[in-house]
Amino acid sequence: MKRRGGGRWIPTALRAGSLRNVNNPGFPRRIVPRAVLAEYTTLAPIYDEVYAWKDYERDVREIRRIVRRSGRPGSRTLLDVGCGTGHHLRLLRGMFRCTGLDRSPSMLRIARRHGRGVRWVRGDMERFELGEEFDVVTCLFGAIGYVRTLPRLRKTIRTLARHLRAGGVLIVDPWLSPEVFRSGHLDLLVHDTPQLKIARVGLGRRRGRTSTIDFGYAVGQKGGPIRVFRERHTQGLFSVREQLAAMEAAGLAARFERGGFTKQRGLFVGVRRSSLP
Ligand SMILES: C[S@@+](CC[C@H](N)C(=O)[O-])C[C@H]1O[C@@H](n2cnc3c(N)ncnc32)[C@H](O)[C@@H]1O
Repeated sequence: MKRRGGGRWIPTALRAGSLRNVNNPGFPRRIVPRAVLAEYTTLAPIYDEVYAWKDYERDVREIRRIVRRSGRPGSRTLLDVGCGTGHHLRLLRGMFRCTGLDRSPSMLRIARRHGRGVRWVRGDMERFELGEEFDVVTCLFGAIGYVRTLPRLRKTIRTLARHLRAGGVLIVDPWLSPEVFRSGHLDLLVHDTPQLKIARVGLGRRRGRTSTIDFGYAVGQKGGPIRVFRERHTQGLFSVREQLAAMEAAGLAARFERGGFTKQRGLFVGVRRSSLP
C-alpha cells in the first residue's frame, strides 16, 4: 500500500509475524452481536488498517512548521498524549527526543513495535505527572474529545500546560465542535486486501454536549474465522471558544487555525507563558 506523502507503509496486521494480532486474546473468538466493548480494546490490533487512509507524514510536516514558527528555537523534546499506535512518534523520533502517553494498554502494545527509541508511558491525560517539562506537547486526531466534559477538558489542558517549558508549544488536533457534529450520520469504511477484509459501519448520535458513535466491525482474515464486534466511542463536543478559553486559563497564549490536520476540526496552538496561573 502506498501512502500519500511518499514512503512505503506496511499495515501492522500484514507485517511478518504479526498476523497473530487479529487472533490475540483481546479479540473476541465468537460472534458477539450484543456486547459493546470499551474504546480501543478490540480495535487496537486493526487500528492501523482502519486508519490506513490517514496521512501521518503530512501531519508531521505541519507539526514541524508550527514548532518552527511558534516554539522555542532548538526544540528537542516532544510528548505526544493519546499517542495511540504511535505513528506520529515513529516519524518524529528522528527530530525530537520523544515520549508517547496513552491510557490504552492495547494501543501501547502496538506502539512499542513501531517506535524503538521512544519512551512509551501508560497514563491518563487528565491527571498524569511525568515530573518533566517538554519543548513540544501534542494531542492529536481527536484524542482530547475522550475527556468528555468541560471541567475535565480544563483539567486536562492544565495538565498538558504543566508539562511544557516556558515558551514551549502545545498542539491540539481536536474532536469535532458542536456546530459541526452531525447526529444520525451513518458511515461505512472498508479495508480490502487479499489477507484482511474489514467492514465498519458507524452511527453517530448527539446527546447534549457529547457525541456517541456506535461502530460495528466485521473482520475476516485469510484462513481464519470472521470476527464481529462493536465499540462505542463517546467524546465531548467543545466549541472553539471553550477550548481557547481553557488554554488561556491554563497559562497559554492560544490561537485557532482553521485548516488543521483533519477535515472540519481546525487546530489549536498554545505557547506557554513564562509563569503558569
Ligand atoms: C483517535 S485515537 C488517536 C491516536 C493517535 N493520536 C493518532 O493520531 O493515531 C485516540 C487515542 O486517545 C487515547 N485516549 C483516550 N482517552 C485517553 C486518556 N484519558 N488518556 C490518555 N489517552 C487517552 C486512546 O486510547 C486512543 O489511543
